[in-house]
Amino acid sequence: MSDTMTTGTPLVRLTDCEKRYGTIIALTGVSLEVHPGEVTCVLGDNGAGKSTLIKIISGMHQADAGTYEVAGEPVRFTSPREALEHGIATVYQDLAVVPLMPVWRNFFLGSEVRKGAGPLSRLDIRFMRDTTRTELRNMGIDLRDVDQPIGTLSGGERQCVAIARAVYFGAKVLILDEPTAALGVKQAGVVLRYIMRARARGLGVVFITHNPHHAYPVGDRFLLLNRGRPLGAYTKDEITRERLTTLMAGGEELEQLSHELEGAAAADADLGRVAEELEQDVAELSGRTAPPEQGA
Ligand SMILES: Nc1ncnc2c1ncn2[C@@H]1O[C@H](COP(=O)(O)OP(=O)(O)O)[C@@H](O)[C@H]1O
Ligand SMILES: [Mg+2]
Repeated sequence: MSDTMTTGTPLVRLTDCEKRYGTIIALTGVSLEVHPGEVTCVLGDNGAGKSTLIKIISGMHQADAGTYEVAGEPVRFTSPREALEHGIATVYQDLAVVPLMPVWRNFFLGSEVRKGAGPLSRLDIRFMRDTTRTELRNMGIDLRDVDQPIGTLSGGERQCVAIARAVYFGAKVLILDEPTAALGVKQAGVVLRYIMRARARGLGVVFITHNPHHAYPVGDRFLLLNRGRPLGAYTKDEITRERLTTLMAGGEELEQLSHELEGAAAADADLGRVAEELEQDVAELSGRTAPPEQGA
């Protein structure tokens, strides 16, 4: 693969993507860029299409329309393995770990290192243990003991081990699906710090979250999604933390309210009018002029 650092070509570029599940349009008109040494944040509420977007990038799904390029080359992945071979690694929220196995064992899970040849080969435990310790330390993770079962680590620590693992195995793009969602403030801070480490090591990071306060400090680019459509795409110098928060809260609260009112509207004509106006506001926030043809 060519060195994208010097050319400015994005590691990942999606253009005008669309994805349908049957008649449901999960994504439409969505574009995104991931650059080396940058964090691209994807923000949106439940149902916004965030997971669908990363499933396309990670090779689990294919877009129905639009283009996907990796380092400037058009690709059409048919499996996550293919994406991984192109350096695109995904850390899912429900990490695939074996809780009772040591940290080092999980670090090398599926890629165990052996020594010796043929039927007499055996696991190179010393190498895997030492490498795990070193790699974790390089990411600034100070574990007392890499022999402890991974199940004894906190959720945040486990996310960090998964990030260090992806870095070690040569990921160029790291996709994190809501890594801070289930965590308290302190643990979330720990994960955010490792996102910055991965960024400092030149990886392109895709950080999925619904929390603008997690996204803003670490993000270089922000893509906001609402019901499968782009609500806006900004580089950091184009948007303030306040604006990002307002956009997220605005879409969320107005939409919630309009859904509630729609429910009540059947019984009350006045409420119906208010609900319509709110829908209009949500549409304007989304940069749309017509009411959404989807959902409800
Ligand atoms: N496998 C599926 N089959 C049908 N509809 C789906 C499927 N996956 C997601 N959707 C729908 O697509 C839309 C986007 O979902 P998703 O990408 O999971 O959003 P998010 O991750 O932002 O919550 C939602 O309306 C959701 O119900
Ligand atoms: Mg999701």
